[in-house]
Amino acid sequence: MLLPCVRSGAARRLARDAPRAFSCSARRPPARGYSRGAAGKGLVLGVYTSEKDDGAAQFTSAGDAFDRLVSGKLRALLSLCGPPLKKGKTRIFHGLHQDFPSVVVVGLGKKNAGINEQENWNEGKENIRTAVAVGCRQIQDLEIPCVEVDPCGDAQAAAEGAVLGLHEYNELKQKKKPVVSPQLHGSAESQAWQKGVIYAEGQNLARYLMEAPANYITPIKFAEHIEQKLRTFSNVKVHIRPESWITTQEMGAFLSVAKGSAEPPIFLEIHYLGGAITNDSPLVFVGKGVTFDSGGISLKPSLGMDAMRADMGGAATVCSTIVTAAALNLPLNIIGLAPLCENMPSGKANKPGDVVRAKNGKTIQVDNTDAEGRLLLADALCYAHNFNARAIVNAATLTGAMDVALGSAATGVFTNSSWLWTHLYEASILTGDRVWRMPLFEHYTKQVTDCPLADVSNIGKYSRAGGACTAAAFLKEFVTASHWAHLDIAGVMSNKDEVPYLRKGMAGRPTRTLVEFAARLSQDSHNAK
Ligand code: BES
Ligand code: ZN
Ligand code: ZN
Repeated sequence: MLLPCVRSGAARRLARDAPRAFSCSARRPPARGYSRGAAGKGLVLGVYTSEKDDGAAQFTSAGDAFDRLVSGKLRALLSLCGPPLKKGKTRIFHGLHQDFPSVVVVGLGKKNAGINEQENWNEGKENIRTAVAVGCRQIQDLEIPCVEVDPCGDAQAAAEGAVLGLHEYNELKQKKKPVVSPQLHGSAESQAWQKGVIYAEGQNLARYLMEAPANYITPIKFAEHIEQKLRTFSNVKVHIRPESWITTQEMGAFLSVAKGSAEPPIFLEIHYLGGAITNDSPLVFVGKGVTFDSGGISLKPSLGMDAMRADMGGAATVCSTIVTAAALNLPLNIIGLAPLCENMPSGKANKPGDVVRAKNGKTIQVDNTDAEGRLLLADALCYAHNFNARAIVNAATLTGAMDVALGSAATGVFTNSSWLWTHLYEASILTGDRVWRMPLFEHYTKQVTDCPLADVSNIGKYSRAGGACTAAAFLKEFVTASHWAHLDIAGVMSNKDEVPYLRKGMAGRPTRTLVEFAARLSQDSHNAK
């Protein structure tokens, strides 16, 4: 039953002498004596790519300690099992230690990886997230209910890798993947680990809301789900505003989209008061909350239309950010605003060429009913100006053009404030959920304000050219605040295999970047307001 990968004479000798319970395999069930799903724990340990030619494993300190515990057998077995482990590649050992029936060793890449200036992220943290996610999934495949994770020198990144990597939406399936609960291996860095768990759970909440079918997450269900998540915090107030409230607010653009659906709209308003002074200027988040975007009368093609259940990704990421900020007890005030509705074709729906009036009095010609997100946001952005905000940040799955421009590499950020940009950018380097600055040129503004019937058209006059930029220019018509950023998250809405520590599905990006951004703002009380 031993060691399929024995090569050298020395290796053969070690194999012969090794206790029978050891085994090494890429994917092998636990050795006899440890039943599947046994009470024992799994262990995930990182190993760096060797910098020396001898190919010897360079363990993390947790790996070194474990190797000492098993009298050097881990190192010996690893060297028997073939070439040094590449980044994200694993080996599983069964029966090495009675507390850990299965040990997954996973490649972390080079030891001193830090900020990569080309990639605009911290490569060391990304490597840890990826390695831990891969290792934990292997433990899950073995149906072991609990896994201890090597902090790999950065317990926050390790926790994020574990919690993000194990997440999957299987709410509606009868056959579910086994639940695995990750724990920190060792007692050092437990605060950083806990912080990572909270950040990752925040992103997972956004993933959950985005992935869920549109008949489960309707506007009211979305609002109630968020309200329920915030119920335990005494410093949070949630207002679920009904259609009558939206009407009194004269949000004509938002209402024009909502009226096409039988599902009533909701305006969700969250106040998190974490600041030292209750009336400290808040950070205001606004999120597009289209719980299903059929395109309306400008109907989308049916292929792939199901993905438009995630068109509330802006609302999901900003509301999840506030839930996370509350869990972290961040010392600042945050207001979250989410206009929620469906975009459907019906006898009551917007028709191309209709003109509607936004809250600030501006008239909008609805030339394409599929450009509905900007109509909701126009009114929500006007409303956001009521709060003397430090900054207004909106997130929206706004344009297919954003996906064409950057794909899933980064969220596009359109902002009138370099102060805001710097905070978002620096936050994203840490989280690995990147941002890229996009233009807000007058060039694009002209293309939406040159409109036959109204003050502004909801599409650019050169149709698809610079579609993400004309959408941003449209939103700018509803902003007077001097620190505003619009995040177009259409390109990062879902994951195929680009982010290795997220499974396929709705991505919940860039929740962790928004949380990190809020955390940084809470440290920056003498800001550029
Ligand atoms: N929700 C879509 C944008 C989208 C597309 C998000 C793909 C995520 C993935 C948005 O409401 C939309 O349909 N925008 C139109 C705008 C166009 C009509 C000017 C688009 O991008 O095609
Ligand atoms: Zn649309
Ligand atoms: Zn949309």
